[in-house]
Amino acid sequence: MISVGIVGSGAMGSGIAQVAATAGHNVLIYDNNPDALERSRKRLAKIMDRLVVKERITKEESTAIQGRIQYVDSLYKMAEVGLVVEAIVEKLEVKKALFEQLEDVLSENAILATNTSSLAVTAIAAACQKPDRVLGLHFFNPAPLMALVEVVPAVQTDIKVAEECFELMKKWGKVPVMAKDTPGFIVNRVARPFYSEALRVYEEGIADLATIDWVMTELGGFRMGPFTLMDYIGHDVNYKVTETVFAAFYFDPRYKPSFTQQRLVDAGYLGRKSGRGFYNYEEASVQPEPTKDAAKGKAILHRILVMLINEAADALYLNVASLDAIDLAMTKGVNYPKGLLAWADELTIPYVVEQLDALYHEYHEDRYRCSPVLRRLARDGGKFYEV
Ligand SMILES: NC(=O)c1ccc[n+]([C@@H]2O[C@H](COP(=O)([O-])OP(=O)(O)OC[C@H]3O[C@@H](n4cnc5c(N)ncnc54)[C@H](O)[C@@H]3O)[C@@H](O)[C@H]2O)c1
Repeated sequence: MISVGIVGSGAMGSGIAQVAATAGHNVLIYDNNPDALERSRKRLAKIMDRLVVKERITKEESTAIQGRIQYVDSLYKMAEVGLVVEAIVEKLEVKKALFEQLEDVLSENAILATNTSSLAVTAIAAACQKPDRVLGLHFFNPAPLMALVEVVPAVQTDIKVAEECFELMKKWGKVPVMAKDTPGFIVNRVARPFYSEALRVYEEGIADLATIDWVMTELGGFRMGPFTLMDYIGHDVNYKVTETVFAAFYFDPRYKPSFTQQRLVDAGYLGRKSGRGFYNYEEASVQPEPTKDAAKGKAILHRILVMLINEAADALYLNVASLDAIDLAMTKGVNYPKGLLAWADELTIPYVVEQLDALYHEYHEDRYRCSPVLRRLARDGGKFYEV
């Protein structure tokens, strides 16, 4: 079994190290900040203790897992590893410099993976002499709990390397999906309307925050409403992803960020972590109550849902991933109650197209344009999942 190197011992690196060590690999983890490395070690010990108390693992397993992780003070100690997963700061120049350095340290056959959420894997691979062994392995937070891993070959990647990593992720107990190296891969692209259309409905004054959150959880079956979720993720982080995806798509209006969210960032109302976002989290603050109108609720749910379906359909249309991969990505990566394309079949394709066209006619905005794949299916009487 190969040894695995992890660079960056923050939230993601620590989680991925835990996953690899649990799968039986010897892991070497490095961070250029020694305090971060120490925090990572302590955090893992705490998590392991909790898992023992909950009887998910035995004391012996906990000791063995922790024993397989070595916290190293230099990248040069990684010379023998077969795979490195990079989880450092999300800056292209810093990642490129690291990959260049890693190539000097590692053996010729070692695989180099990046956990980037928003940068082009191809641009990172371009920093290497042997870019055919570089790819994206995009884990979700927290890595030990979220099953999905997007496997993202760069333009230069040898497809055998991607397939090998795909199989390895299964051995790690993950659900891998192949995704093309396009902005946001699958999840961070397809999920955009969950936030942006909810924000639009709110900005137009169609419903208040609590009502939209109620609609999406109670009527839609989503685990969290969009505003609660944005508060949870943090507006600095969530807004930045939207902004990056918007720019990466050459400012396609479909991905346009919202002033409402930008203002929260300006105000320092970052969400739960700052005590205030859309909602107030300070002690004794009274939470707003939703208006539980089922008919109005259904209209809001379907508006957001058809926009999500449209994005999923377009990702399929542009070969970002396969039908199964897109549905799996949203159920396993962000816990959607159903795959969006299966949901489209359930609502019926003509209904989805009709709803999108009604929005387009109302606003004459490009963001409401219907994906050609939906229009063709509607015309031909087809479905995504033909039985
Ligand atoms: N947090 C998430 O939800 C999430 C999900 C998926 C992917 N990602 C991606 O994973 C990566 C890491 O994110 P995170 O949330 O764990 O960040 P983080 O800030 O928690 O951790 C990053 C760590 O990298 C270290 N670091 C920075 N530059 C370094 C360098 N040159 N060499 C070695 N170590 C260095 C920092 O000291 C820090 O400990 C980013 O690319 C991010 O986009 C994050």
